[in-house]
Amino acid sequence: MASSAMIRSLFFALALFACGAYSRKLQELSMAERHEQWMAKYGKVYKDAPEKEMRLQIFKDNVEFIDAFNAAGYKPYKLSANAFADMTNGEFKASRTGYKRAGRTARTGGITLFRYENVTGVPASLDWRKKGAVTGVKDQGQCGSCWAFSTVAATEGINQLKTGKLISLSEQELVDCDINGEDQGCEGGLMEDGFQFIINNGGVTTESNYPYDATDGTCKTAKEASHAAKITGYEVVPANNEATLLKAVANQPVSVSIDAGGSSFQFYSSGVFTGDCGTDLDHGVTAVGYGTTADGTKYWLVKNSWGESWGEEGYIRMERDIDSKEGLCGIAMDSSYPTV
Ligand SMILES: *[C@@H]1O[C@H](CO)[C@@H](O)[C@H](O)[C@H]1NC(C)=O
Repeated sequence: MASSAMIRSLFFALALFACGAYSRKLQELSMAERHEQWMAKYGKVYKDAPEKEMRLQIFKDNVEFIDAFNAAGYKPYKLSANAFADMTNGEFKASRTGYKRAGRTARTGGITLFRYENVTGVPASLDWRKKGAVTGVKDQGQCGSCWAFSTVAATEGINQLKTGKLISLSEQELVDCDINGEDQGCEGGLMEDGFQFIINNGGVTTESNYPYDATDGTCKTAKEASHAAKITGYEVVPANNEATLLKAVANQPVSVSIDAGGSSFQFYSSGVFTGDCGTDLDHGVTAVGYGTTADGTKYWLVKNSWGESWGEEGYIRMERDIDSKEGLCGIAMDSSYPTV
């Protein structure tokens, strides 16, 4: 005989299950809504419904990761559902980095001249943007051309310091025309090979003369022959010492190499980034300054090439002077700068 209490508890259990299903449904709805809003914000269009459904699932996984990270608050930086929120970490790594260290023979070290070796008394903080040596943040798009953006940003910096003129220079020229060493357009490259290309070519043209289109194209030789800035050499910063890197960055914007492949780097939004990251260098960026926060955290100011919507208006502050000699994400492992 079923008592009314049993019936009530059975009913209650059913109601609970139903409520569970209902709230799950609500959550999915709001995730679909968040995805729609995000698509509108970033102008995303998918080719068909299955593609959209697949991207929604990836978006959902990423947003859950981002929300949980921010709610936990155990790091001094925040993540956000930025333009990469519908990409898996594998897709992100494959299309947004492009530093080809693997193809390169190990540097023996200590051979090349380092002109800032004996520099002393560097300022406590520095921001090359405030000195007019840094152009606006650019966007490499879905092309592994980070190396070209880093090469060009460091060249724009030294050109401004030497001539007083800040000229936005062409990454596409490097993508299309530079086949030096490891440089292979959207398939990746190295900044040192990029500097060597500019030296051999006798200069590099302007962004407006040879605009960026994020694809491998045929070299436009007439544009390649028109030079808006030139460099005469490049030097390598002795590796694995942040104090040494500081001497260089205190004197000009410097091309640095980092491991930017992690999810927390993918979704970095603001604050001083402290990892997690490894030292598997896969991305070329530009150190354009350094400083210390009000609470005493030292950081590198780094210009990225993922547009202004990523990070702090296209920049990231990365923790500086950490315990490991390689620096955070390997930032002190492989740095170079052009000379005039
Ligand atoms: C730094 O100082 C040492 C010792 O005086 C000198 O031998 C070396 O050439 C200097 N380095 C540079 C880059 O000027």
